[in-house]
Amino acid sequence: MITQVQALILAAGKSTRLNTGKSKLLEPICGQPMIMYPIRLLEALQIPITMVVGYQKEEVMSAVQDAAGFPVQFVTQEEQRGTGHAIMCTRDVWQKSTILIINGDTPLTTQQIIKDLVHKHVQTDAAITFITAHYAEAARSGYGRVCVSEQGGIKIVEARNFTGDSESPCCINAGIYLVKKTFLDAYIDALVPNGLTKEIYFTDLVKIASDNGYGVSTLSVPFDSIRGVNTLQELWAIEQIQRADLVKQWMDRGVRFSMPQQVHVDLGVHIGAGTVIKGGVHLTGNTIIGNNCTIAEFNSLHNVSVGDNTTIHSHCIIADSQIQDNVHVGPFAHVRTNSLIQNNSVIGNFVEVKNSTIGEHTKAKHLSYVGDAHIGSKVNIGAGTITCNYDGAQKHATIIEDNVFIGSNNTLVAPLTIHKNSFTAAGSTITKNVPEYSLAFGRARQVTKEGYMRSQGDAQKMVTDPLSAGNDGQNSSGQSFIGATKTHIDTSTVYLD
Ligand code: UD1
Ligand code: CA
Repeated sequence: MITQVQALILAAGKSTRLNTGKSKLLEPICGQPMIMYPIRLLEALQIPITMVVGYQKEEVMSAVQDAAGFPVQFVTQEEQRGTGHAIMCTRDVWQKSTILIINGDTPLTTQQIIKDLVHKHVQTDAAITFITAHYAEAARSGYGRVCVSEQGGIKIVEARNFTGDSESPCCINAGIYLVKKTFLDAYIDALVPNGLTKEIYFTDLVKIASDNGYGVSTLSVPFDSIRGVNTLQELWAIEQIQRADLVKQWMDRGVRFSMPQQVHVDLGVHIGAGTVIKGGVHLTGNTIIGNNCTIAEFNSLHNVSVGDNTTIHSHCIIADSQIQDNVHVGPFAHVRTNSLIQNNSVIGNFVEVKNSTIGEHTKAKHLSYVGDAHIGSKVNIGAGTITCNYDGAQKHATIIEDNVFIGSNNTLVAPLTIHKNSFTAAGSTITKNVPEYSLAFGRARQVTKEGYMRSQGDAQKMVTDPLSAGNDGQNSSGQSFIGATKTHIDTSTVYLD
């Protein structure tokens, strides 16, 4: 039967109630624009799609095309005159015997619900079959209510037009309908502008069918599966449900979440069994985490692939990079832009790695910037080392081969190659390539003048400058100290020959 179905997705509306100045259909829900939810649903069911676009149509169409995979035909509704008018605009594309109409802002619907709807439609041979749900908060919502019509049949009354007892228990309209093409052909023009807003409501077709003796049937489903999005609060509620659902799916596959309510996992994420995800972690984009990893508190990983048995210590930002097995990253590390951190390596605290490869068993444990660098295996990058990759106009590469020891606080001026098994001294500025098995120094030589201070008198008197008046150079117990504003020491005389 599903082969007889074609779908119309309504996505032209202005999203005024969202108040963001942007089409709600572009808003991401767990990393996927809202409009892609019905598309992926229909793609899975192999139901051909026509989408009505209008408001911000270029942006909506490009969000759909970027995510591609399944052909979507577009029809433009130039003026947004209501859901009924949107359907009228699609008249030329009606081909199959059954038309599935689905609001673009209903992202949580499942394949099973659509299959059940088709089944009900066939079973009851109705002209229209639509989805309903019980919703206790109907009185404070914008959903259309399913009511008994004046003729004793069925009708949908839009929230703004409802005049009955608003607190009476009620079924709401989900905005998902199956309609016989023959009925649509015959009655679509019977829809007229409705109520104060003078919009053409597609929902009025239910009363028209019922009044004209056509069968109308309904399928009741859980409210959460058909929630719509008109406001940011509704968007938040839907994303919470989707996010919780994803976390639960990963729990079922052996992923331990220490604070599941505080974790954000996007739809495109994959997590291996035995991995522990702690609180405040954001796993977004196409992030893939292997088995038995620990992703500690407050980490953000976007489009990152992590191997097995790797630990990301807390407070790291990692994006568009690959981290292999048995690696330690962080705390407080920033790894970005196409970096590759190979097996058994360590990227420690306050280390930034950009567009670089870090070889196996290599360590950069403290306070470094590694940019546009290719670092071999078993390399030690001393604390405070910086690759100077940018000369103000261009970026240059730094290559450090295997088994190199870079002393602490090195400044490596690229382009630069440090060949294997070499050693650079702490505090060096290295500007020239270093051949293999070499020791390179690039720093001012220390000069020590023994006894020099004795010839100047008491060293502490020097520090507490006699020029400073009052108590500036002394604390309350009469001891000297450095740091008073008028304290003065001419260090140049100490270091100059
Ligand atoms: C609609 C239903 C309401 C139902 C609710 C379910 C109507 C008149 N009302 O109300 O009974 O309970 O959905 O969520 O249908 N759109 C267009 N062109 C337009 C207007 C809207 O394409 O001119 C699109 C919107 O982009 C949206 C969908 O149609 O994706 C529904 O429109 P919306 O304004 O959200 O309808 P609701 O007021 O929620
Ligand atoms: Ca809506």
